[in-house]
Amino acid sequence: MKTAPSSSKARAAQALNGTEAAAEVIADVARQMRRSGVVPKLAVVLVGEDPASMVYVANKARQAERIGYASLQVRLPARTSDAELAAVICGLNDDASVHGILVQLPLPPHLSAEAVACQIAPDKDVDGFHEVNVGRMTLRSSRSAFVPCTPLGCMHLIHQAIGHDLKGLNAVVIGKSNIVGRPMATLLMHAECTVSVAHIHTRDIEQLCRTADILVVAAGSPGLVRGDWIKPGAVVIDVGINRVDGEGGRKRLAGDVAYDEAAEIASFITPVPGGVGPMTIAMLMKNTYTAAVLAEQARMQTRAVPVTGSNGR
Ligand code: GUN
Repeated sequence: MKTAPSSSKARAAQALNGTEAAAEVIADVARQMRRSGVVPKLAVVLVGEDPASMVYVANKARQAERIGYASLQVRLPARTSDAELAAVICGLNDDASVHGILVQLPLPPHLSAEAVACQIAPDKDVDGFHEVNVGRMTLRSSRSAFVPCTPLGCMHLIHQAIGHDLKGLNAVVIGKSNIVGRPMATLLMHAECTVSVAHIHTRDIEQLCRTADILVVAAGSPGLVRGDWIKPGAVVIDVGINRVDGEGGRKRLAGDVAYDEAAEIASFITPVPGGVGPMTIAMLMKNTYTAAVLAEQARMQTRAVPVTGSNGR
């Protein structure tokens, strides 16, 4: 089914419910887990006390426990050196009971996210940030790659909205981060979309967005995308989670898209909260289960190899 482009007159968009979709993904993983008897273990590392990161890490660990995974939280002070963090990661790499490792980003400024990602064993890199996994995903290697959770969740919602055939659709991704923008563009390219990536230096970003049958916004800028940037009938995926001033001096969450305006023009749109956010955690559960199954398969294969002496006997 491919129904995105429609230039008919404006209508109210259908909200893509990420909470429901995530619950379905998680229920499916839980079913597979019960059938296989494999119990995954996820280690989540948090360096420092960034309030948003503390919430995200707690949500990830809570979801892991709710589904029946073993989980381990490692909390390190903001002053942790790169050598100390590397030692923690090395210990988790060597711990055969741990199947998935995630180091929550952003890190304190003295630590490099790219360097840290590459210290995690690729087969435990459930975030899909290690260059081996990025390479495998980008090249569509036959060796399985972990794909970053947020773009995976966005693709799931896009497919749910307009089906699996996205061939020839124009996709615009705003943002070129390693976590969302770049892998998102790659996945859309793999789906045979014509993909543009917009960023801070993009000229006439509004006009570019108006060409998008699929618009994915990961800019970190509340309300950046206005209703008149949107092509009628487009699918709009809002990855932004911004804390902004709400009523009565309280903070509220807002996306990167001016929702009410965009919902008048788009055919499908993700709300914030309740859109992409829950999907990220669901895909993390899925990747962690995959890591555990692959580890179990590798363990069985190792056991199946006949023991031979050094001369082959
Ligand atoms: N910070 C924001 N999103 C993510 C994510 O998907 N993984 C990690 N490790 N940190 C994040």
